[in-house]
Amino acid sequence: MSAEQYHWWQQGVIYHVYPRSFMDSDGDGIGDLPGIVGRLDYLQWLGVDAIWLSPIFPSPMADFGYDVSDYTAIDPVFGTMEDFDRLVSEAHARGLRVLLDFVANHTSEHHPWFLESRSSRHSPKRDWYIWRDPAPGGGPPNNWLSAFGGSAWEWDDRTGQYYYHAFLKEQPDLNWRNPDVQQAMLDAMRFWFERGVDGFRLDAIWHLIKDDQFRDNPPNPDYKPNDPPYYRLLPVFTTDRPEIHPILAMMRRLADAYGDRVLIGEIYLPVERLVAYYGMHEPELHLPYNFQLVLLPWDARRIQAAIDVYEALLPPGAWPNWVLGNHDRPRVASRVGRAQARVAAMLLLTLRGTPTVYYGDEIGMVNVEIPAEAAKDPLEHTVGHGFGRDPERTPMQWDSTPNAGFTPGDPWLPLSPDYPVYNVEAQRTDPRSILTLYRRLLALRRAEPALSVGRYRSLPAEGELVAYLRADDAQRFLVALNFGSWVRRYSCRQLGLRGEIALSTYLDREGERVEGEVLLRPDEGVVVRLID
Ligand code: NOJ
Ligand code: MG
Repeated sequence: MSAEQYHWWQQGVIYHVYPRSFMDSDGDGIGDLPGIVGRLDYLQWLGVDAIWLSPIFPSPMADFGYDVSDYTAIDPVFGTMEDFDRLVSEAHARGLRVLLDFVANHTSEHHPWFLESRSSRHSPKRDWYIWRDPAPGGGPPNNWLSAFGGSAWEWDDRTGQYYYHAFLKEQPDLNWRNPDVQQAMLDAMRFWFERGVDGFRLDAIWHLIKDDQFRDNPPNPDYKPNDPPYYRLLPVFTTDRPEIHPILAMMRRLADAYGDRVLIGEIYLPVERLVAYYGMHEPELHLPYNFQLVLLPWDARRIQAAIDVYEALLPPGAWPNWVLGNHDRPRVASRVGRAQARVAAMLLLTLRGTPTVYYGDEIGMVNVEIPAEAAKDPLEHTVGHGFGRDPERTPMQWDSTPNAGFTPGDPWLPLSPDYPVYNVEAQRTDPRSILTLYRRLLALRRAEPALSVGRYRSLPAEGELVAYLRADDAQRFLVALNFGSWVRRYSCRQLGLRGEIALSTYLDREGERVEGEVLLRPDEGVVVRLID
């Protein structure tokens, strides 16, 4: 297949914007849509292909937009529908696609549907949510736990029943077994497709359907005392239920009716289960998010094995994807260290499949320590101290002016104290910065289809090295990554290793000839263009 036959979402790179923290245009300290519009030139310069915006819909913000009270409008804190339309047209004019975050599993407790549903047991929308009587002896109907702490069942005094919430009690789960719910939610997706969005990231999608017999979840034999309490049980009756698949297929038919759109799913499941979300009988998601690089320890052997297993498990026609971080997980530069963050960038952008870059990772942003009085994320309270996600959600660092150029007002979360050094302005002209590395990797990937859509072949490597080959009919590249902090040599008998370095994570060896073996400095990754 020649490069032109691939879809944009296969060859392209997605950039994840957390709108509250990207760019504030009106001085309220919260990022907004006009702010994003003002930074589109940066994203185009960087060389990404699409932006995914975390939710921008009206919301009481109990979970910062993941509690939606209207699926077809814009929250005033982010701007207006006109701002949104302008964002789409300005992005499209620069060749950037726009993806929205569709919070399908639950609404806000303030959504009119839920207000109606909780108003009476006889409400026509009662069945739009999941209501149950207390257990025979009183108390919650079963042992299901909320991912955000405590029981997943919340008592409603007025109507004398419990409702189910997989996340906060402010986020009641919709009953997706109800065809009216399905239609209403599909209508909301249609609304945005009509406005020109290029696809959706579907939030918490593996939670969509729960067991219709409401069976108790079994205990998790691997539970460790410091794990969040949610992990005490295996969520086998609350997630990954078989009846989800026809619903995803329905969403896919809708997306396909609009042409070249993409559906991405947030799914935290082992890869053996994850691959089912491409669709077994009919097409479902284009890209069920593969979080292995987020979840696995940063260990060369574990990572190489994970890549190989994933590649082997992908069903025919299924397209891979890779992620290093998001607004729910510690920053990659904090997890693996600043030096390895460069190796991680090279890995992300040279694997087969669609990468997603989390905003700020390209300038090496780290987790920011948030003083208790400045904490915003409810998980800090509902799950416990240290589980809050504020540290990875701090404002983007644009320059060295006050508040890193993010806002003229008071930022909603504190800025990282490192912003005078780690910012876009300082790094864009620095030939050795991590930003320059990201930009060069993105440019190389764009210029060389072998690196985006070419074949992947795992190469034998030992210890702290990861090595693989990326090839199409025109070019072959060796990628060799040193996960350790000692000098290593990589050689491979299977490979006539002759070529020249196309890129090093140190950005100083381009064009260097290699023959027989390649030397890797501590924390160095290289892409070698092989010559036959
Ligand atoms: C996953 C989102 O990424 C997270 O931020 C949110 O809190 C939960 N889903 C609930 O919507
Ligand atoms: Mg603002």
